[in-house]
Amino acid sequence: MKIRMQSMPGNHSELLQAIEAVVGKAGILHGDALVGRSAGIWSGNSLQALALVRPRTTDEVSRVMRICHAAGQAVVPAGGMTGLAGGHDSTAADIVLSSERMNQIESIDTRARTMVVEAGVILQAVQQRAEQDGLMFALDLGARASCTIGGNIATNAGGVRVLRYGMMRDQLLGLEVVLADGSVVSSMFDVLKNNTGYDLRQMFVGSEGTLGIVTRAVLRLYEAPLAIETALLAVPTWDKVMELLRYFDAALPGALTAFEVLWRDFYELNTGPFSTLEPPLETEAPFYILMDVFISDIDQGRTKLESLLTTCLEQGEIVDGALAASESERQRFWQIRENFEPEQKKFDKIYGYDISLSLQAMPAYVELVRQQLTRRFADAELFSYGHIGDGNLHFSIYPGQARDRDAVDEIMYSPLQALNGSISAEHGIGLEKKAYLAYTRSEAEIELMRKTKRMMDPDNILNPGKLFDM
Ligand code: LAC
Ligand code: ZN
Repeated sequence: MKIRMQSMPGNHSELLQAIEAVVGKAGILHGDALVGRSAGIWSGNSLQALALVRPRTTDEVSRVMRICHAAGQAVVPAGGMTGLAGGHDSTAADIVLSSERMNQIESIDTRARTMVVEAGVILQAVQQRAEQDGLMFALDLGARASCTIGGNIATNAGGVRVLRYGMMRDQLLGLEVVLADGSVVSSMFDVLKNNTGYDLRQMFVGSEGTLGIVTRAVLRLYEAPLAIETALLAVPTWDKVMELLRYFDAALPGALTAFEVLWRDFYELNTGPFSTLEPPLETEAPFYILMDVFISDIDQGRTKLESLLTTCLEQGEIVDGALAASESERQRFWQIRENFEPEQKKFDKIYGYDISLSLQAMPAYVELVRQQLTRRFADAELFSYGHIGDGNLHFSIYPGQARDRDAVDEIMYSPLQALNGSISAEHGIGLEKKAYLAYTRSEAEIELMRKTKRMMDPDNILNPGKLFDM
């Protein structure tokens, strides 16, 4: 302990000087230099931090962590700050360690279909680089233009193609992380198969920055589709929604890549007076399916899909449907799903939810929470949508004037235990859901997570207070 005190910084200004000696003047912002920095696109608040540190290399991350470790300094890793569970929230006492200057795509191997990237590369940049060589990075989500690969890994991001390609953890071949004490663990494998003991990479995926800081990764790429067809379908019953998922998946083997469902309330909000988008379908229905189909045969792909949709219409599986006629129409269909401006315009507060449930149990659950919510808060409103092909239901909830987050959380989460659902399908736990972790994970599981955290970060400096309390 004495040795640590002698060689390591004892107060804030010493700590910041020591960090500056590693990352340079441009690599650390504090005090007035932080004014105007945002805490993320959703929060609207300004960033709280003792300092924002912006290393350029793994070695710099390692040296910064060594300094923070010795000083017992809390470090909050930050990527694009688009998280929806408060995983990147920071206080004025934290060092925020941002990957914004580690944004290089290091290499692409078109034969092996792999890409090596630094943690701060924006998801969309990865997607576009892959496209240049006729390849595809399969992860895709609404925040694609702001979120980073490091953040995608730390939160095990999901999105709109999980049905076909899996979550972030499935796109990852290799990983490099810096641990709490500054040591670097490199598992930069670039092969699909490597069956050599514990999969250390996966421990960090979804750990929300509590076990290590992602610095680099090897990503898996796929062949790009020749084209993507997008259909919007109006569906009369939930049973038919479930049937259609299997119907299209079976009729278009391997080609159904997105199967999103918009409940009528969400569809109407996003095509109504608060939206710039017109409803593309004439017939109303309780459910709308938005689906993407990857086309590998330009001549036959669209024709086949058209004939499937005609059959569905004739058999009453759907009451209306449209196949996007152009790329811009495709984008408009997707905007009905991905644009959250209407709810932001209409309501001064929205709580977002992200739960997982079997499809069979969904309609009763949605009805139950709607009833409980409006019985408790008469002015509350609920809008449902989600990646239903993955069993992932989202809600945007206007909580009413009462704005009682705890009460709304309890209404949403408490039925899930009996239904074997999850309080988070893809957004993670962060700060917002940690009080409810035990609704989804057993005591034994949480205790094993705590033991792991204690072993890897005994002083609890990496994103402290996120996921669970120690
Ligand atoms: C989405 C975010 C909320 O699916 O996960 O749009
Ligand atoms: Zn989502």
